[in-house]
Amino acid sequence: MVQRWAALLRASIGRKLLMSLTGLALIGYLIVHLAGNLQIFAGEGGEAFDAYARALEENPLLPLAEVALAALFVAHIALGLRTALANREARPRRYKELASHGRRNPASMSMLVTGVIVLVFLVIHVIDFRILPRHPEGLAATVVRRLATPVGAAIYLVGVAALGLHLWHAFQSSLQTLGVNHPRYTPAIKKLGFALALLLAVGFASFPVASLAWPDLVRKAGESARAGPEPAAPIEAPAEPAR
Ligand code: HEM
Repeated sequence: MVQRWAALLRASIGRKLLMSLTGLALIGYLIVHLAGNLQIFAGEGGEAFDAYARALEENPLLPLAEVALAALFVAHIALGLRTALANREARPRRYKELASHGRRNPASMSMLVTGVIVLVFLVIHVIDFRILPRHPEGLAATVVRRLATPVGAAIYLVGVAALGLHLWHAFQSSLQTLGVNHPRYTPAIKKLGFALALLLAVGFASFPVASLAWPDLVRKAGESARAGPEPAAPIEAPAEPAR
């Protein structure tokens, strides 16, 4: 069994196969993550999102899911770096030829660059929300506070833009590696990959954009909790005495 895995990892097609499978699983995670995060916009004060985060944290299977998720990321990144290095060592000229013939789109040429940017973003992101202390008002308030500064928003926007470019090429390339390649379906798969990448990038970008541009829209998360009870009705001016 161990020998089979070792042989699979030694062969470049084996590495590509595992990279495709782990990449598709990570796309699945991103769709679920985005759907969960969109609850920040639901309701008045981010309660829906906070309740969702609490339910997740109380689930006894969470530590297991986190280990599996970390393993997926580590495997995908290690395989990606290994493949990129092997390709560069083996065929530096072929890369230039392909590039000069315009057979690769900007996304495919920049897979390594966008992958590394997403990796740096991911490290910052996990420190932001899993390591640094949370805002006392809850996770929704923490998200808004972190993203509502120009630097915070810029980091997240660059990260999700790189993610979009990465996924644009990644989706159709993974399916091709897995053998889903047919003149009739490939154009549709490419369009689907582009739509998916755009949807995820725009969806994730909505959090820094909303936090920065319309703080009240999301900051209700923190402010409704802080505002306390409704203010008392204004005291009416005494009626003028009748003449
Ligand atoms: C830009 C918008 C994003 C926001 C607002 C956001 C928000 C969050 C929050 C609040 C958490 C902590 C969840 C909790 O502790 O219950 C989290 C965790 C995480 N996020 Fe994001 N996220 C964003 C984008 C991304 C992207 C683009 C990726 C991947 C490339 C990603 C990967 C992760 C991972 C791996 C975790 C840790 C999961 C865990 O340990 O349970 N996030 N995110």
